[in-house]
Amino acid sequence: MRTQIAAANWKMNLSFNEANTLIDNLLALPHELTVNQQVVFGIPFPYLQHFVEKLNGKQNVFVAAQNCYTKTSGAYTGETSVQMLQSIGVTHVIIGHSERREYFNESHQMLKEKVDIILSNNLTPIFCCGEPLGIREAETQNQFVQQQIEESLFHLSNDEARKIVIAYEPIWAIGTGKTATSQQAQDIQAFIRQLLASKFGEETANIIPILYGGSVKANNAKELFNMPDIDGGLVGGASLIPSEFNAIINALK
Ligand code: PGA
Repeated sequence: MRTQIAAANWKMNLSFNEANTLIDNLLALPHELTVNQQVVFGIPFPYLQHFVEKLNGKQNVFVAAQNCYTKTSGAYTGETSVQMLQSIGVTHVIIGHSERREYFNESHQMLKEKVDIILSNNLTPIFCCGEPLGIREAETQNQFVQQQIEESLFHLSNDEARKIVIAYEPIWAIGTGKTATSQQAQDIQAFIRQLLASKFGEETANIIPILYGGSVKANNAKELFNMPDIDGGLVGGASLIPSEFNAIINALK
């Protein structure tokens, strides 16, 4: 079975003490991960190394950065390279989140470069895509997401494509409490898988986890994750509440 992933995206939230308390409270709750289930914590940069060490040895639990730069090193004040992340044991990087595309002007071309540098350092990119409300209302979401994927991922080899994770996040559902229905999410995620199959072949498309993100909560996770092309979630708000996120972990297939 494909890897199923509950990924927390803390965004720019939590003091260091609050983050520690959150993890302690979460780890005290009952959850058991099967071999095909993973939990990934998308943690703010200043706390990454601490949580890599704190979570070290926990089976199937990983730490992700929420961004990285496209270059290896040099005069790029304020940026963080994938090599730096790798050197402290970070294994995943969330890229292309709609907030970064919107507020920091991240282009398809820049995300293509980020995917490449992440893969060449043997980390896992969690590549976000998804449409704004106007596109959904015009019913052109498939074409919109197709362009995001074609322009940032279609240059990959089959071997590289097998190492990525995709998160489909409709922008109108992020932080709004408005979740896509499980059928809406399934329909576009099945489309994404077909698109991947058309480029990389069925076998590769069938092993790429496709997560859903956008107001995933304890009370809707099970229904979403039960859909055949939804392999877990990228979770913002609910990942800041231990009982909520634990229920989301327990909702994985
Ligand atoms: P949300 O955020 O769960 O708060 O909607 C999801 C995300 O932005 O990754």
